[in-house]
Amino acid sequence: MSSTFWPHSEHWSVKIPLQTPHYRMPVLEEKGYAIMKTLDLDIPTAEWEDLVYMDWKSGGDTNFAPLASCDGTIECKGFWENGKPDKGAIFTSNAALSPKLMEYINTIPANFGRVRIIKLLPQQFDQALRSVHRDDNNRLNPEDEGWVVRMWIELTDNPDSFMLLYDSDENGLPIKGSEAHVPMPRGAHFVVDSQRLWHVGVHNGDKPRYAVIISAESTPELNEWIKKKM
Ligand SMILES: [Fe+2]
Repeated sequence: MSSTFWPHSEHWSVKIPLQTPHYRMPVLEEKGYAIMKTLDLDIPTAEWEDLVYMDWKSGGDTNFAPLASCDGTIECKGFWENGKPDKGAIFTSNAALSPKLMEYINTIPANFGRVRIIKLLPQQFDQALRSVHRDDNNRLNPEDEGWVVRMWIELTDNPDSFMLLYDSDENGLPIKGSEAHVPMPRGAHFVVDSQRLWHVGVHNGDKPRYAVIISAESTPELNEWIKKKM
């Protein structure tokens, strides 16, 4: 069985802007992603398993537990629906149930947008590729402020799974030759300009994969913080 799916010019992601005047972090300039040192966080499984999840499909068969949302409620919709760019988030009641995880998240020097735990059911390469997309991270984001990017922390140990990435060409379509795989063992910690890069999680396991996804505004300070962790 071979995959014939490949995004074309009618894909909804193509309309999402690539070129804007927002401040961008030099650390992401070349490849659009940066892999930091694997974290050795001793987080009890209850901190992600016992949270309130929403059935919200994005990039496969997914559920999300919001740790921070646009108004502090347990919801997944875009901040723009509340008239806000994806930053200035308010932590939800889930955050209080994840003290160890929040202890780390609070060390990240960033203006957070949505912070969510994703629960992704297994999906192999061909199936995952059908959900590859670019994120609309910067809708309503003032152009003289920082570009919103996303950071991941892998909670479950899936060394054979990976974030599948493709850079975009001048038409906003994925470049096959730029394919990159970021492995997702426990503690994997990486940042992706997910508005520029097409992305989807390929999860070759037999149990759900859990990870934290954090929207964060680009600043020189966050750039330095990421560099120190690489
Ligand atoms: Fe995405």
